[in-house]
Amino acid sequence: MKTHVEAAMGHGNYHRAVCLDQLEEGQPAGLVLQGWPVMLVVIDGRVHATLDRCPHAASRLSTGRIRRGAVMCPLHGARFELEGGRCVGGSYKPLKIFDARISEGWVEVDLPIGVPGFEHMPVDM
Ligand code: FES
Repeated sequence: MKTHVEAAMGHGNYHRAVCLDQLEEGQPAGLVLQGWPVMLVVIDGRVHATLDRCPHAASRLSTGRIRRGAVMCPLHGARFELEGGRCVGGSYKPLKIFDARISEGWVEVDLPIGVPGFEHMPVDM
């Protein structure tokens, strides 16, 4: 595990999430990692990681669909680009994006240091 100093120096705060071969191309997966709700999806062999919580009303984006580089919220249909998190087809705040990498066959996600706030918690529906 990285120290706070290493993270501040740009080394990241990466945590192992799942084996890469557990993810299906184009199929979002939701998990909780270090207390953070995270959505993972592989597009064209590249892993994307986002907060698994819609910026509008907290739905789990991992239950939505992926299309043309964006995830569609299952609740009201807003779309968020997986690159950068910009909302398209809606006027909501950007989706939080996490850096992700592959290491020894594992997907690792760079998470903020500390526990997520209440505003990051998924809402059960
Ligand atoms: S909860 Fe996602 S668009 Fe409303």
